[in-house]
Amino acid sequence: MTLPKYVAPKPRALMNFFWPTSWMVSDPERFNALIKEAASLCEGGIHFADNLFTWARNNSLFDDVAFREAWERNVVNDADRAVAWRRYFLATMAYHAVQLPGDFVECGVYAGTGVKTVMDYLGGTAFPKPFWAYDTYDYNPVEGHAFDGQRPGFFEEVTKRFEGYANVRLVKGFIPESFAGACPEAIAYLHIDLNNAQAEIVPKYDNGRISAHGVACRISHSDVLARAVGLDIVAAGWRPTVEGYFRSVTKPRILADVAEARGPQFAEMIDHLKKADMAREAERLLDDAAWLPEPMRTPGLDDAELVDAEGDAADGELPAFLTEDAAEPDNANDAELPVAAE
Ligand SMILES: C[S@@+](CC[C@H](N)C(=O)[O-])C[C@H]1O[C@@H](n2cnc3c(N)ncnc32)[C@H](O)[C@@H]1O
Repeated sequence: MTLPKYVAPKPRALMNFFWPTSWMVSDPERFNALIKEAASLCEGGIHFADNLFTWARNNSLFDDVAFREAWERNVVNDADRAVAWRRYFLATMAYHAVQLPGDFVECGVYAGTGVKTVMDYLGGTAFPKPFWAYDTYDYNPVEGHAFDGQRPGFFEEVTKRFEGYANVRLVKGFIPESFAGACPEAIAYLHIDLNNAQAEIVPKYDNGRISAHGVACRISHSDVLARAVGLDIVAAGWRPTVEGYFRSVTKPRILADVAEARGPQFAEMIDHLKKADMAREAERLLDDAAWLPEPMRTPGLDDAELVDAEGDAADGELPAFLTEDAAEPDNANDAELPVAAE
């Protein structure tokens, strides 16, 4: 597909955009007048619309000719005009996502303006991917929140708007039930805009409860993904550092990790240390061990490459104080670092 051409902003032009539509304001007339007065004190580059007042910004969204055309062509009410910066945000995300594998999805479509602006920005009727557009259309399931036109027959009106757009898939129904039977295989772009907290919240870990089985399922799903993309976390540069790992686990866990990665003799050499020192030494000892915590390993990749349990004393020299007897009790300074429950 042909992507929109980049248009460099004109360095000397300060564009203004003043469209007095904002939300959650008790006295819009007074509010707009006050902002107008404030704007008169600014040198230019003003944006005022959609609860966003800025100045001395180049507003370069309006330099993007393809975007401007797509946005203006689809404006059907004051709110659509006001949300130009939000539309530009979608358009630029879509510019990248259209180059990825997977389909486009919008959950909460209303009249289809968001979907159509993005499609028009990226080829219009020639938009190259399926775009799934989910909404109840004819009514708004959020009580007291119906938008203009949401009544029986609205779905047909929206469908008409997309005449000639072969790749749009308007799915009428209540989310999440409507996903059944009408769902993409893979997603490159997902815009969730339901104004409906109930439907937008994905219960995380079963509403706060977490079972060992649930964790095991999630890990095995992530393993499938990791194998599919040949994920090699060590090659990608991950190391068990104090900040990234050791400060979050207990001392017995650190000792077990060091024993596994380098051998039990190394664990014994640091087992008298305070948590902070132990964590620091563990980071140093495992820096080049190509070792990963167990949940981060991908079964199916060569485990021998991930774990070197044959630690060799010569390449793991310890500072002198590590081999001296500890003057303090084992856990004297554990409060320095938080300890995660296991
Ligand atoms: C803010 S509007 C969407 C605006 C649109 N994204 C745009 O850019 O113009 C929210 C829409 O979500 C829909 N909606 C809310 N909850 C829903 C649910 N559970 N299933 C399907 N649609 C829902 C409403 O009918 C409404 O049309």
